[in-house]
Amino acid sequence: MNNEKYIREATAHFEALLKAQLNRAERMKNAAPPKDFLSLDTITIGLCGGDGIGPIIMTEARRLLEKLLADELVSGKVVLKDIEGLTIENRLACGKAVPDDVLAEIKSCDVILKGPTTTPKGGTMESANVTLRRELDLYANVRPVTVPEEGIDWMFYRENTEGEYVLGSSGIEVPDVLSMDFKVTTDDGTRRIARAAFEYAKANGKTSVAIVTKANIMKKTDGKFSKICNEVAAEYPGITAEDWYIDIMTANLVNKAIRSQFQVFVLPNLYGDIITDEAAEIQGGVGTAGSANIGDHYAMFEAIHGSAPRMIEDGLADYANPSSIFKAAEMLLRHIGLTSKADKLAEALALCCDKEKKVVVTGFKDGNTCKEFADYVISKL
Ligand code: IPM
Ligand code: MG
Repeated sequence: MNNEKYIREATAHFEALLKAQLNRAERMKNAAPPKDFLSLDTITIGLCGGDGIGPIIMTEARRLLEKLLADELVSGKVVLKDIEGLTIENRLACGKAVPDDVLAEIKSCDVILKGPTTTPKGGTMESANVTLRRELDLYANVRPVTVPEEGIDWMFYRENTEGEYVLGSSGIEVPDVLSMDFKVTTDDGTRRIARAAFEYAKANGKTSVAIVTKANIMKKTDGKFSKICNEVAAEYPGITAEDWYIDIMTANLVNKAIRSQFQVFVLPNLYGDIITDEAAEIQGGVGTAGSANIGDHYAMFEAIHGSAPRMIEDGLADYANPSSIFKAAEMLLRHIGLTSKADKLAEALALCCDKEKKVVVTGFKDGNTCKEFADYVISKL
């Protein structure tokens, strides 16, 4: 039928996408020097509850921060700012993944602790996470996974602003015939995530970084990712860089004979998304892993799980596990230089989650509630 019309429309659409991506690449080149989070006199922490079980776990995270940062809150070194409006109801009413006033409030903070946000299926509304990662240019998604008794100490550096995600809501469609989405990888975007991963490795005495792609298939984008990561690796003589394909790496993570040998991973966005859920499951479930979204000017810390609408429907919301958001809070404190507070929280979490296990959240009524677990962790601070 009217293929010519679709080709014309798609060509114009692609031209606009390419221009926007070239502009983004240009902006990256001309970016302002990074903010020094460690030298701020006052640090404003924005708290966004989000949807579903989000407000429930955030209530507990706030209580935890109030206890842990009691002195800093009194002296004014730290300010906690509640940010309302990042709810699915408000976002749908405004027709925006992150309404302008909410974004402005978020930008008035230095760092954000964020609960999960629901993304409507279908339609064109982007995920709020993806919007925030883009708007705040949070290019490194940092996800630690540890299983001490197995010697597993993994750190994932997932590229967070490119790949399939950046254009995932801008594909083209010829109705009833075909659909196409786009993936984009830039040189500067890859260089900055590679550098973040290798800097982490260097600062933490790690000796190897796995570069994980599917460069045998996605030759341009993943090919570039691998090439640039290897170039950056050459600047870190004590650290071995190894190329892996994502399929075999997902197998490696369930191979108990070899998995503890991996240390740091650097990956494009979508592979990083998938493999960090797998890794979190190995640690004890996606409810147990924290996630940091780091940029040069803002940083956002979040639970890696979703808003769990089924828990709400089944009346189990009070049984949501807050440990993922607690771990995110720990990463936040570390990022802003409150290291001893972060260590204190890490110790309490290790005690409550790994050692004592006196209070266990199962997500069901046979376990403890979110609040009971939080009381237990707070009592150890
Ligand atoms: C994550 C989540 C998000 C992602 C969703 C909620 C958009 O799965 O942080 O891993 O895909 O990045
Ligand atoms: Mg994910």
